[in-house]
Amino acid sequence: MKEIKITTEVGKFSIFKFNCVESTQTMAKELYRRYSYDAFVVWAERQFKGRGRRERRWHSPKGGLYFSLFQKDLGDLRSPQLVSLAAGMAIRNGLKQFCNISCELKWPNDILYQERKLCGILSESAIYGQKIHYTIVGVGINVNTDISELPCEVRAKATSLKDIIGLEVDLNELLSVSAEEVFKWLSFLKTDNGQKKVIESYKNHCVTLGSQVSVYLDNETISGLAVDITEEGALQVLAAGETLLFATGDVVHIRRDDI
Ligand code: BTN
Repeated sequence: MKEIKITTEVGKFSIFKFNCVESTQTMAKELYRRYSYDAFVVWAERQFKGRGRRERRWHSPKGGLYFSLFQKDLGDLRSPQLVSLAAGMAIRNGLKQFCNISCELKWPNDILYQERKLCGILSESAIYGQKIHYTIVGVGINVNTDISELPCEVRAKATSLKDIIGLEVDLNELLSVSAEEVFKWLSFLKTDNGQKKVIESYKNHCVTLGSQVSVYLDNETISGLAVDITEEGALQVLAAGETLLFATGDVVHIRRDDI
């Protein structure tokens, strides 16, 4: 493990760099227990048990960017879901700054480029009452990733930065830009106005809004038109004349041609 100390406009933080870990999420919890830092980043070149949302596996071959960003004391949030939305905006902005590409946000936390998944985000928070004691934002970006190394079902819907811009990029530089953006967008969540700004910005770039969607829940699937995202970050869907709210769930966008 190597500890690299970084000073940025949003403050000072350490990056703990590993060759290979089980999951940077798990490692972040372990390092918090060991060092009690308020904010830091864990970065690994590979993960052998990378975790995705809803207990899924996140395949993490060499060439991708895999990091978890730890932030203590976010304060009172309308909902922990706002962490995911802020992280999505941060990574979108980071990619725009870094290589001038415009990505779309798929509710709640996928980053797409021309309908293919470029990045996944997994946010885990420790909550006491209404307060977020700490949050760990896990980010996996297919950067110099050879898409053919991913399993078939993932490959069919994935893309990589290398395939989009036609060249390999420096993971170190992309990590610095991305981590700085995530810290910045998380800091917006500390005020009520900042939380509103996160939601409004997210809505402006969210391709789920206005789409026909199917929301996969644990026991059922609901289809309808995604009409809004609430101040708590929940998705509002118009289905069979009723307005339904989803705080979480897997969403599939239904293409016009499929209807
Ligand atoms: C998803 O789309 O399901 C979320 C994927 C999140 C993957 C990242 S990679 C870095 C961090 N460590 C993990 O084990 N998962 C997240």
